[in-house]
Amino acid sequence: MAIVLGIESSCDETAASVCISGQVINNKIASQSIHSNYGGVVPELASRDHHKNIVPIVHEALNDAEINTKDLDAIAYTRGPGLLGSLLVGSSFAKAMAASLSIPIIPVHHMKAHILAHFIDEPKPPFPFICLTVSGGHTQIVKVDSPMDYTMLGQTLDDAVGEAFDKAANLLGLSYPGGAVIDKLAAEGNPHAFQFSTTEMQHLNYSFSGIKTSILHFLRKERKKNKLFIKDNLNDLAASIQRSLIDMLMNKLVKAATSQKINQVAIAGGVSANSELRKRLKVLAQENQWTTYIPNVQYCTDNAGMVSMSGHILYEKEQFGALDENPLPRMSF
Ligand code: KG4
Ligand code: ZN
Repeated sequence: MAIVLGIESSCDETAASVCISGQVINNKIASQSIHSNYGGVVPELASRDHHKNIVPIVHEALNDAEINTKDLDAIAYTRGPGLLGSLLVGSSFAKAMAASLSIPIIPVHHMKAHILAHFIDEPKPPFPFICLTVSGGHTQIVKVDSPMDYTMLGQTLDDAVGEAFDKAANLLGLSYPGGAVIDKLAAEGNPHAFQFSTTEMQHLNYSFSGIKTSILHFLRKERKKNKLFIKDNLNDLAASIQRSLIDMLMNKLVKAATSQKINQVAIAGGVSANSELRKRLKVLAQENQWTTYIPNVQYCTDNAGMVSMSGHILYEKEQFGALDENPLPRMSF
């Protein structure tokens, strides 16, 4: 059984984790707060912060696991998708370290790693299962037949749902990233106070750009009547926006599970940390006789635990990479 170091650097988290014999021992993350000043991730600043953080965070994970570099059997790293400059820092570091130790590197697909986070803790989903993977850059409904075998059933054709949360938060004057802020404010609000028009796409696909425009126009109109409209209605606005987005996600998820006749249903990715989404999945589980799989919050948002676990799984299948492979910002699924 192998000892695998996992490194994640696809966006604005520099993270490292050690997995020993299939057990994720730790999950160390250096998050970058600098982007909150800009309302979104600034790629150049992200790369510079990864550069600063990668050595300390890898040291922290190894020290915490009481592992020496020479004990490592492989290094897994996120090859894509993500920001090129950010991916370059993690991949260059992983390759250099693996080359110096003469051990294999294991390239990992970031969105598949979000799904494989389900194999960190018990209960682990049996195959096949459906996974709704919802993050800042992606919204996907995937049928997972094995760790090597994925079928994309549906996805967003424009914005990701995390992006919709973040853009809506921005319109409400909240800080970036806004998903967790909306989640918190929504807890005290009425989810049916306001209605926004949503776009229903064909099949199992999504579109989240329309609701953003609908929120924008609604707020403009109301603020003409009352300058303090947002401030006076912040909790209700957050709850209503959150409800609309979750309704959209859940409608297609039910369709996917029904049409595939699969009742093992999982969620993954940053937006799966949303407390209302987690609650709603449990309600749907009762209505549809699903068994649901909801990851620990630390493995929903970007983390390296999911990368070291993916590394462990791929190591067993001898899925090793080469030192001349470049990062892939638009890595295909
Ligand atoms: O998976 P992730 O950490 O990074 C990407 O791969 O993109 O997802 C980040 C996204 C952001 O859009 C953030 O606002 C959203 O996840 N997010 C949430 C919550 N926590 C993070 N959205 C809604 N509710 C939350 N509690
Ligand atoms: Zn992610």
